[in-house]
Amino acid sequence: MAEKFYLTTPIYYVNDVPHIGHAYTTIAADVLARYKRMMGFDVYFLTGTDEHGEKIWNAAGKNLDDTKKLVEEKVAGFISAWKILDISNDDFIRTTEKRHEEVVQKVFHKLLENGDVYLGEYEGWYCVPCESFWSLSELKEDPEGRKLCPDCGRETEVLKEESYFFKLSKYQDQLLAHIKANPDFIQPESRRNEILKFIEQGLRDLSITRTAFPWGIGVPDNPKHVIYVWFDALINYISALGWPDGEKFKKYWPADVHIMGKEIVRFHAVTWLCMLMALGVPLPKKVFGHGWWTVGGKKMSKSKGNVVDPLALSKEFGLDAVRYFLLREVPFGVDGDFSRNSFIKRYNSDLANDLGNLLNRTLNMVERYFNGVIPDPKNLLCFDEYSQRLVEGKKGIIKAQERDFEELSFSLILIGIWSYITLANVYIENQAPWKLAKFGETDKLGAIMYHLCFALSAIAYFVAPFMPETSQKIWQQLGLTGSPSENVDIIGVKVAKGDPLFPRIEVS
Ligand code: ME8
Ligand code: MG
Repeated sequence: MAEKFYLTTPIYYVNDVPHIGHAYTTIAADVLARYKRMMGFDVYFLTGTDEHGEKIWNAAGKNLDDTKKLVEEKVAGFISAWKILDISNDDFIRTTEKRHEEVVQKVFHKLLENGDVYLGEYEGWYCVPCESFWSLSELKEDPEGRKLCPDCGRETEVLKEESYFFKLSKYQDQLLAHIKANPDFIQPESRRNEILKFIEQGLRDLSITRTAFPWGIGVPDNPKHVIYVWFDALINYISALGWPDGEKFKKYWPADVHIMGKEIVRFHAVTWLCMLMALGVPLPKKVFGHGWWTVGGKKMSKSKGNVVDPLALSKEFGLDAVRYFLLREVPFGVDGDFSRNSFIKRYNSDLANDLGNLLNRTLNMVERYFNGVIPDPKNLLCFDEYSQRLVEGKKGIIKAQERDFEELSFSLILIGIWSYITLANVYIENQAPWKLAKFGETDKLGAIMYHLCFALSAIAYFVAPFMPETSQKIWQQLGLTGSPSENVDIIGVKVAKGDPLFPRIEVS
């Protein structure tokens, strides 16, 4: 039976429309999911929407009908965005679905019964945009004495309300021990150190219900309380699988990796882990907090009007260019800055030039010199050091990918593939096939065309998780059928040259 692989993105708040930040996480998860499927894993890839909480309630004008309407509208936007971006999720969980609400209530009930949840009163601060609770010592203060959220810098509100609490403090030692014993659990390393420091400062019990507004999942037997949106949302990772006894839960849990932006690692590595410990559910294997995209050096926001729309971008330059750029431009754990200039630069150099031209030149020559049929290299397979490097290089990349995908090092993987593409381009220059054609050295010319087509078939295979459409196009232009695979016989195949993969963008 195939080994399982369960991966998740955050479920996104529906007060926003999907921008390149959301697309980044979701595309990264999609690439990993596609790679694992190609490697024969039984993959379950979950994404979805986080629909409760004060933020959504406020955004919709604080009444139930409008909130429900807003939520439906925004969810449709996420679903269609992921379709357009070719996201291969196996499930889409919404926190307003019955299958989710029931599990959240079941979790609440169970923790109440075993004494990990108790009724008390919360007095402190709350950041609505981050949906997070803060104590005075954690807050920042501006010159006017306003209390600001240490995460997002916006003003917090004072809360004093009856609340149920979750005994986070009880699990502090167990959590620390777990993180210390599993060095790869929180990645990258810098995030792990932040979290360790945070836990070592001491965990306080977490307020997990609100009474100030009604938009949330009701507390069983005390419906004036709605469950805190983060407590509700984190449970999506098991509610989608049908915890506690659903078939999918038995098959796919624990998660192999939860992927997210760095700002919410704490909720996953601390709150979520303690919740699972309290439930007696096995812990996820990895939490990966990637970096943040800024635009022109600034945080993206509606008010600044600098939000980059991934759908408009892919309409203009093609979806695969967007998928490629986001994962190639910066290492996955590190922050990046988006600009049209850097996008176009990378498009022209890596996609139009390196990859697009390689395919184009190669197929032109196969057409010109061999009537479009990929020749048999006969006894000239790996006839020199350079041909050999193309053939051996493929194995090297396959091996490196196994390690690099484990660490979600997407940019490193792409750099590796592009060094192979460069190798193939240099091969053309060095072998100068046009000279061989002139002197009638047909056997050697044929061997060169074979090696180039071989390299292109390898490239189609390598880029498949990142750029599914491009991969398919290369495969088809090579004249191959089915989907790109590791091993295929290309000898005697008639190529089918098509349009350029990435027409150059002229900048005025
Ligand atoms: O936090 N750069 O949802 P959210 C990179 N509902 N990634 C970005 C980004 C940026 N500028 N902006 C957003 C929530 N993201 C909760 C999650 S999970 C149980 C609940 C991505 O809509 C990144 O993955 O605020 C970040 O963690 C996520 O969107 C936050 O989405
Ligand atoms: Mg956010």
